[in-house]
Amino acid sequence: MNNYNTKTTMLLKLSIVTLIGILGTEAFLFWSPSAQQFNTKFNLYTRRNPVLEQSIIHPDGKGNLTNFNNSLVTKFVMHGWDAPQGLGLSLESIKNEWLNAGDYNVFIVDWSQGNRLLSYDQSKSRLDLNKVHIVGHSLGAHIAGLTGKAFNGRIGRITGLDPAGPGFNGKPSTEKLSPSDAQFVDAIHTDAVPLIGLGIAENSGHVDFYPNGGNLHQPGCYINRITEVVDNGLSAAVACNHLRAYDYYVASINTNNPKGVATQCSNFVSYLANWCNVDAMDNNVAHAIMGEQAILSKPYANSTIGHKYYLTTTISYPYFRG
Ligand SMILES: *[C@@H]1O[C@H](CO)[C@@H](O)[C@H](O)[C@H]1NC(C)=O
Ligand SMILES: *[C@@H]1O[C@H](CO)[C@@H](O)[C@H](O)[C@H]1NC(C)=O
Ligand SMILES: *[C@@H]1O[C@H](CO)[C@@H](O)[C@H](O)[C@H]1NC(C)=O
Repeated sequence: MNNYNTKTTMLLKLSIVTLIGILGTEAFLFWSPSAQQFNTKFNLYTRRNPVLEQSIIHPDGKGNLTNFNNSLVTKFVMHGWDAPQGLGLSLESIKNEWLNAGDYNVFIVDWSQGNRLLSYDQSKSRLDLNKVHIVGHSLGAHIAGLTGKAFNGRIGRITGLDPAGPGFNGKPSTEKLSPSDAQFVDAIHTDAVPLIGLGIAENSGHVDFYPNGGNLHQPGCYINRITEVVDNGLSAAVACNHLRAYDYYVASINTNNPKGVATQCSNFVSYLANWCNVDAMDNNVAHAIMGEQAILSKPYANSTIGHKYYLTTTISYPYFRG
């Protein structure tokens, strides 16, 4: 756990510098020499280059993002360090779904390789923060949150996919993803199992989704946690539930799929028993759509904050019941 925390802290510091570097001119305030030691690559995909990325990798500070279009919404996706290749997190899939659904600048943030960090040509990279959406899985969710704090919550949207729990449970909101980090913050909790889950148990955003309770097994993840730990190591045991948040998000982008309609309730058992008195509530507050369309809840975010939204899913893509 010490190792985890040390790595986590290092990664948080360095990647914040990185993200801020790309986000805007004001970022200069946050530059630090330590950034030079960090290997991060920002890969840009657009409808003009949906397959071959354009990357910011030049240590001299110049990138080649000729396809970057400042008038479009810019989406970032990043994983946590604990979701390495081989555990099934394909960042390609979310990129492809986004580009099918809309005309976006999509950045895959890759810190598994790359060159020295750079100061990218700020005049080119300046973004309209209102049009920035950062999606982070696991530790990546908190990195997104800390980035949002650095911009005083002015970033348009942050989505946390099973925000990391170990090292973050019980911490003050200044140290983890929280509602004030962006104009709209949504989170999907899929491995919030007390003590052993990799996801955080507490709410993280304006709207917090707990599919299948969020703290049990996700359907299709037929894993005996204890046995798996012995047989295959911790990663294999936790991967399925922890990564499911990402799978749900990917499935939610295609509007032809059924919707993940979730209902506000005090707990999952009451939800299953239909005990939630949603009739008494404004329909917009009683229900929220998990995933990409959670943004529809933004106008009601002051009323949804602090509540939990529940739904059940099927065992496989496209997961939702509509
Ligand atoms: C920059 O990207 C454009 C478009 O993909 C390409 O034609 C050009 O050769 C690239 N320039 C450099 C210096 O890599
Ligand atoms: C950038 O996006 C806007 C809005 O979709 C579009 O009108 C414009 O033509 C795009 N610019 C380039 C250079 O593709
Ligand atoms: C939500 O609350 C904030 C802070 O109190 C306030 O500034 C904002 O206008 C509210 N938004 C809505 C839609 O009520």
